[in-house]
Amino acid sequence: MLELILSSVYLIFPAYVANMCPVIFGKLNFPLGHSINKRLFGANKTYRGLYTGFLGALLVLLLQQYLAKNNILADYTLLDYEQISIPLYAALFGFGAIIGDLIESFFKRRINIKPGRPWFPFDQLDFVIGAYLFLLPVYLIPWQNLLAIIILTPALHFLTNLIAYLLKLKKVWW
Ligand code: CTP
Ligand code: MG
Repeated sequence: MLELILSSVYLIFPAYVANMCPVIFGKLNFPLGHSINKRLFGANKTYRGLYTGFLGALLVLLLQQYLAKNNILADYTLLDYEQISIPLYAALFGFGAIIGDLIESFFKRRINIKPGRPWFPFDQLDFVIGAYLFLLPVYLIPWQNLLAIIILTPALHFLTNLIAYLLKLKKVWW
């Protein structure tokens, strides 16, 4: 059970970091991309998400590859980090997470939920579903791990959002 939890979180971790990056880098005064399309996705979505998400996933994957080379956490790895193309997987995890979030925002706007307002459980899962779908052509996440990810992610998401809220990185706690 613990192995399933740890290996699932370790696998999806690049998508978690990709999803956090637009929020973190927003407050570090990185150049703000203009909004992609306010009417379609809402004013909170920017191009910043796309490149910071990719870079965040890339950083995590490079670290995971380094750990794999040194045989650290090897019991919990599903991907063969020494064999896979790191930039390709960074693109799939990173763009998958951010585009998953964009698509979720698109539907939120269509049913008239204001930008920033909660829509459980889709706010909590959009980025992992995006990453799952983008990974499909090269890697099928086993269903047991996918199930673990879907159960664990909302709890982890609330926890990190609460921290981001307390650090004043986010205006709302959800
Ligand atoms: N963000 C961004 N570009 C993206 C995605 C997110 O700049 N492509 C930043 C925005 O500052 C956004 C924050 O990350 O406010 C949090 O994103 P998220 O919680 O996914 O969106 P919401 O602001 O809650 O908007 P929505 O209602 O559309 O989910
Ligand atoms: Mg969202």
